[in-house]
Amino acid sequence: MADVPQALAQAAGHGLNVPQGMDARGEAPRTRGRFGRMFPSLPAQELTEEQIDEILAAMMSGGIESDLNDHLPAGYTYLAQFIDHDITFDPTSKLGGDNDPRALSNFRTPRFDLDSLYGSGPADQPYLYDWDPDAPNPGVKLLLDTNTDPKLLAVDLPRNNQGRAIIGDARNDENAIISQLHLLFIHFHNRVVDFLAGPPTQLVADELFDEARRMVRWHYQWVVVDDFLPRIVGGDTVNAVRGWPARFLEYDREPYIPVEFSAAAYRFGHSMVRDSYKIDAGDRAPIFADPTMPEPARHLGGFRRLPHDVKIDWAHLYKLRSDTKPEMSRSIDLDIAAPLFALPAGVNKIHALPRLNLMRGRALELPSGQDVALAMGLEPLAGDALTLGRVKSPAANASVKQSTPLWFYILSEAANIEGDDRAKRLGPVGGRIVGEVLMGLLEADPRSYLRQWPAWQPVLPRADASFKMRDIARFAYPEGEYGLPGTPVG
Ligand code: HEM
Repeated sequence: MADVPQALAQAAGHGLNVPQGMDARGEAPRTRGRFGRMFPSLPAQELTEEQIDEILAAMMSGGIESDLNDHLPAGYTYLAQFIDHDITFDPTSKLGGDNDPRALSNFRTPRFDLDSLYGSGPADQPYLYDWDPDAPNPGVKLLLDTNTDPKLLAVDLPRNNQGRAIIGDARNDENAIISQLHLLFIHFHNRVVDFLAGPPTQLVADELFDEARRMVRWHYQWVVVDDFLPRIVGGDTVNAVRGWPARFLEYDREPYIPVEFSAAAYRFGHSMVRDSYKIDAGDRAPIFADPTMPEPARHLGGFRRLPHDVKIDWAHLYKLRSDTKPEMSRSIDLDIAAPLFALPAGVNKIHALPRLNLMRGRALELPSGQDVALAMGLEPLAGDALTLGRVKSPAANASVKQSTPLWFYILSEAANIEGDDRAKRLGPVGGRIVGEVLMGLLEADPRSYLRQWPAWQPVLPRADASFKMRDIARFAYPEGEYGLPGTPVG
């Protein structure tokens, strides 16, 4: 089985230093990981077009906002999407046919290495970097666009002359929140560069870039483990999935992304997306343009030069200021926001995202939620609890209850958690898959912060004992820009 963790155990046992995250500045072309299966022996769940239609009708919220998740500021919805775009991208599986996950390329490395931000480094993808010859250390900072037109965001992602972002993963420009989160991470990297270029380290050139990227990656990985994951799967599950080997995920030499994660469990985030957001002191802005309106009104759609009026004050999306209560995510349940049933043309040809999720799950021959629960030694959800009385046709209802698409099952499981956490985090099946995969990627990566000996701790300023997403935001924008209070650095 897993020889990487074995190597770690040996290295740790002999008091050796495992390799640090000091890769060469121009990393070798990315190894394209494969997808795989977490439960290869389970049969595929069968799903007809009629059942897909029934399930879709059951999930459509009809423009009424479902309950909100008072544990989860809305910024974490988009951190979840940003994390997804760092580790998984399947642009090639066919919706119509059977796909062998081992034959599919993952266009992102299955590592928390922020290849979505850095690409494969300044040598291979120089257009992502700032080569200003008059600035110190050309090619070390990430490139930004500045706009003089007052109608546009003064500082935006670098864009081509048609407004498309030039970034490591085009999906990070799919809506104005993820675009500005990508922008925030660019600022974070650039600020870490300034930090390391100053005393006492005073690093330059390649060494400066390598150390800044390592520092950014490790603080981000810390946030994934210490801030994001406990909110999404609960503290008990985080503790249960720490350490190696995992219970259900097996790596044979190379880590991979299981399709149970990419095509079902991690798509829980689609349920957290809201119809509209309050991103500043002004009115709410819808997540996408209203296609029925002739004039494009203010909206958070992406793939364009961002107008000034969608500039985010991050205190509205993360808890950053005592005077501003951030927007919350939607509950994790069977209700999906109406705009996700009508994606803008630029996002996908099939406009209903829930349909895409179900078709992708079928094309990748995912097992049913019940079979996965049983394989985990859990009592599957059953009866009316499973569909919450939503699937209306008796025939479809009966068959969905017997054998449920994994994505639907995982959302239903979250909606059925007893007590305060109901619909606030993932349940036992979803939580276990997400927890094992995210922790497994860090455990399997000798360059992750988790694999360092002696153990590594965040070094950048933080508001309290643990380093969180809000500390990344504050470090990225220390001047009080984007509504953030200034934080002393260093
Ligand atoms: C406005 C918000 C979002 C939109 C419009 C959106 C849209 C999409 C689309 C069009 C796909 C491709 C579906 C397919 O062809 O199978 C996709 C895939 C996916 N989405 Fe989202 N998404 C959003 C938010 C999120 C969030 C918050 C999460 C995370 C928790 C997430 C997780 C995923 C995952 C895991 C995939 C599969 C990625 C792959 O392996 O290729 N998405 N999304």
